[in-house]
Amino acid sequence: MNASPTKPAAGQVWSAEHYARNGRFVAEFGASLIDWLLPVVGERVLDLGCGDGALTEHVAESGCAIIGFDASQELVTAARARGIDARLGDGHALPFSAEFDAVFSNAALHWMKRDPDAVLRGVAQALKPGGRFVAEMGGAGNVASIRGALHEALVQRGVAATTVDPWYFPTLTDYRERLQNAGFDVLRIESYARPTPLPGAVDGWLTTFAKQFLSALPESDHADLIAEVREAVRPVLVRDGIWIADYIRLRFVAVKPAN
Ligand code: BEZ
Repeated sequence: MNASPTKPAAGQVWSAEHYARNGRFVAEFGASLIDWLLPVVGERVLDLGCGDGALTEHVAESGCAIIGFDASQELVTAARARGIDARLGDGHALPFSAEFDAVFSNAALHWMKRDPDAVLRGVAQALKPGGRFVAEMGGAGNVASIRGALHEALVQRGVAATTVDPWYFPTLTDYRERLQNAGFDVLRIESYARPTPLPGAVDGWLTTFAKQFLSALPESDHADLIAEVREAVRPVLVRDGIWIADYIRLRFVAVKPAN
């Protein structure tokens, strides 16, 4: 998980404990992305937005040498506790040059909203010629019901929700063009709905992943905001008593051309 969950611009504050409790599914669903990466023994791989390293650990089982990278000190510490060489830094300013056979990223790129093209330039720079970039992120329409309810609830309270919304969910066409502009050959790119069962009510998801929205209000108002969003999305997201979030994924394999 990369961008396990959550992962993002420099200095983002994540709770490893909330993440472990409410975001374990991020690494579980992300496991199928390893089949797109196909890491091999001896390769050097960068996990961009490694989060707490749960998925990074699985990639490492292939025998590749993997470096984690994340903007959250707390998640980097959690990844290091798993024995992963995890580095702290901003995905908009990757400090690597032609040293990786592959860059891998799961559920992280949508947190790097400030300048997606700078992120892609950094990935291209980090890869050796011929290296591959294999990633999954939220695509256009991702968690639309939850996002819409958050915006509505904040606007009702006089907050301009667009100014605090931390997510970048591009269309397939937009992101393919950005990859190409960064010099990549896009071998494969797909967008698909992935209804995602949550470990409990949406409350846990909100406290783990929607902190920027909550932080726009005094702490004394958080419970009220969460209750309002929960009741707004309940008719859309609860099926047979199970909360199922409306995830849309964007997945791709792109290659930095060999010299
Ligand atoms: C995602 O993985 O799509 C996601 C996770 C948390 C917040 C927003 C999106």
